[in-house]
Amino acid sequence: MVGYVLTLFDKEDEMYCIWHMMIDAENQGLGYGKAALKLVIDYFQTFPFGKTESIGLTCHEENQAGLRLYRKLGFKETGEKDEDNERVMIRSLAK
Ligand SMILES: CC(C)(COP(=O)(O)OP(=O)(O)OC[C@H]1O[C@@H](n2cnc3c(N)ncnc32)[C@H](O)[C@@H]1OP(=O)(O)O)[C@@H](O)C(=O)NCCC(=O)NCCS
Repeated sequence: MVGYVLTLFDKEDEMYCIWHMMIDAENQGLGYGKAALKLVIDYFQTFPFGKTESIGLTCHEENQAGLRLYRKLGFKETGEKDEDNERVMIRSLAK
């Protein structure tokens, strides 16, 4: 195993979420993170727990690798921060 993505469906906000995502340090920068996130987006676009419009996540502003990865795959900062001072990012589930 080189890493994992932990996802959830937030019933209250009716939104799919990337909760944790981690690629082992020795395997970073090899495309696994991007490939895994693409698979998760494809899966969410089957709406396994119900039809919603978007995916949400949060990322610390010092985590440049994370921010770049998420922006590359279409996530946009909303301008909000969560209780841990992480930036809130949203991506449409429209194909
Ligand atoms: C963030 C993380 C998941 C990215 O996974 P990865 O497999 O290393 O990323 P990939 O090789 O698929 O690269 C995807 C994109 O991420 C960005 N990226 C990856 N490593 C980067 C680095 N060291 N610096 C800057 N950008 C980086 C790039 O934009 C890259 O796209 P590009 O190569 O086309 O420019 C991984 O670095 C990680 O697990 N970090 C520690 C945990 C973490 O920060 N998780 C996210 C919490 S929000």
